[in-house]
Amino acid sequence: MTEEKKIDENKQGEALLLESQQGNTRKLYIESYGCQMNFSDSEIVASILAKQGYNTTQHLEEADLVLVNTCSIRDKAEQTVRKRLEKYNAVKRTNPNMKVGVLGCMAERLKSKFLEEEKIVDMVVGPDAYKDLPNLLEEVEAGRDAVNVILSKEETYGDISPVRLGGNGVTAFVSITRGCDNMCTFCVVPFTRGRERSRDPQSILSEVNDLAKKGYKEITLLGQNVDSYLWYGGGLKKDFKNASEIQRATATNFANLLDMVAMAQPHMRIRFSTSNPQDMTEDVLHSMARHKNICNYIHLPVQSGSTRILKEMNRQHTREEYMALIDKIREIIPDCAISQDMITGFPTETEEDHRDTLSLMEYVKYDFGFMFMYSERPGTMAARKLEDDIPLEVKKRRLTEIVDLQQQHSAYRTKQFVGQTLEVLIEKESKKSDQHWSGRTQYNTVAVFPKENYKVGDLVMVKVDDCTSATLLGNAINYSEAI
Ligand code: SAH
Ligand code: F3S
Repeated sequence: MTEEKKIDENKQGEALLLESQQGNTRKLYIESYGCQMNFSDSEIVASILAKQGYNTTQHLEEADLVLVNTCSIRDKAEQTVRKRLEKYNAVKRTNPNMKVGVLGCMAERLKSKFLEEEKIVDMVVGPDAYKDLPNLLEEVEAGRDAVNVILSKEETYGDISPVRLGGNGVTAFVSITRGCDNMCTFCVVPFTRGRERSRDPQSILSEVNDLAKKGYKEITLLGQNVDSYLWYGGGLKKDFKNASEIQRATATNFANLLDMVAMAQPHMRIRFSTSNPQDMTEDVLHSMARHKNICNYIHLPVQSGSTRILKEMNRQHTREEYMALIDKIREIIPDCAISQDMITGFPTETEEDHRDTLSLMEYVKYDFGFMFMYSERPGTMAARKLEDDIPLEVKKRRLTEIVDLQQQHSAYRTKQFVGQTLEVLIEKESKKSDQHWSGRTQYNTVAVFPKENYKVGDLVMVKVDDCTSATLLGNAINYSEAI
């Protein structure tokens, strides 16, 4: 899957619309770019601002406050946001009272520079400072610029229940960790989102239970690195001397959390993202195998198939260790779908390294993939130590080669499902036909089938008769026929 496709899936640039609260008179237009965490954070922000008298709007022209939740992961993501700011500027000329705030990773990366560089910005708020929004808005209303980019070691927003009525009412994200401690050399996230911290399992459970009560059928537990989730009764990882001390404390790790969530809501589908190969344990795989409602799908970014490049990237695994993990997954969960993130053209990448990436892909035959050209990010270790020395043409060619190979593998995986009967959760009407539903299997493959009398949110057994390269086509059948 190309970057653009991923962006389309995340509905980038579509403003969040929530149910209006009576008595609220001000209008908030909030847009999100980047990862799912940003979309989830925007719901937290909307929830905080609902208490400040704001209802959401999807019409930029009528907004009193425009917020853009931004992404810094690649230069292109930042350019997209800068273009949006130009658009806001044009609207601000006709509505001078409109205030503009930048949230998220770009806010954190550029800090007050934003106020100097982008004259239209009134407020800059980093990912850990959203609870300060009411104060910051007061500053802005008093005619002063407002900035809060302080990163926290504790903030998880566990006590804020995000308002979610903008989604499909069927699938929701629940964040379980924030930040990242991994320091992959290419990655800006540890700088923009700060240290890793885990959220109290009880607050996760109550959010999940609440979503179930509201009729949600599927949740995705979110974090930059979910497998390193660890909660020890309020303590932080740094408060413990070593791993065995942590073990002795009454800790909840990711496998325990999966068990808890899966058992609390046995009729809900559970997904999680993202897994880091270095932290994924066998316990997690056994937990997945134990609970039917945990979807057999793992997003397992690898970034490169070359051990030498992985080392340069400061990834904590070799090619061989990654392959051994793939073998383990297939042993414990034979039907598990697996997807990757891959970077091409990392500094010093040779043709041989690139071929290693292609051969690793051949080994795994990923179901899906998200592939990117290396984009140097200021302040990262790679930017400081390594020259961005792979010519754009070479990066592009290598990207095309891995995207083409991934498409072949995705098509191969999709085809394997033809003839099978699979459970599909209906999410929406098919884009191509109002006579068909579109949903996903547990493997995250899209399935399309005639509507009949089913509705959004139904879990339906679908007999797959045919497929395109990425979509299963079939017909719903009764459970009795399926068994
Ligand atoms: N652990 C995170 C990773 C976030 S970044 C998660 O939750 O998915 C998502 C992907 O963007 C990474 O896996 C990597 O493949 C890609 N990426 C990160 N920094 C990049 C850079 N500087 N250039 C190109 N791609 C990058
Ligand atoms: Fe980035 Fe590596 Fe963390 S890709 S988000 S530093 S796991």
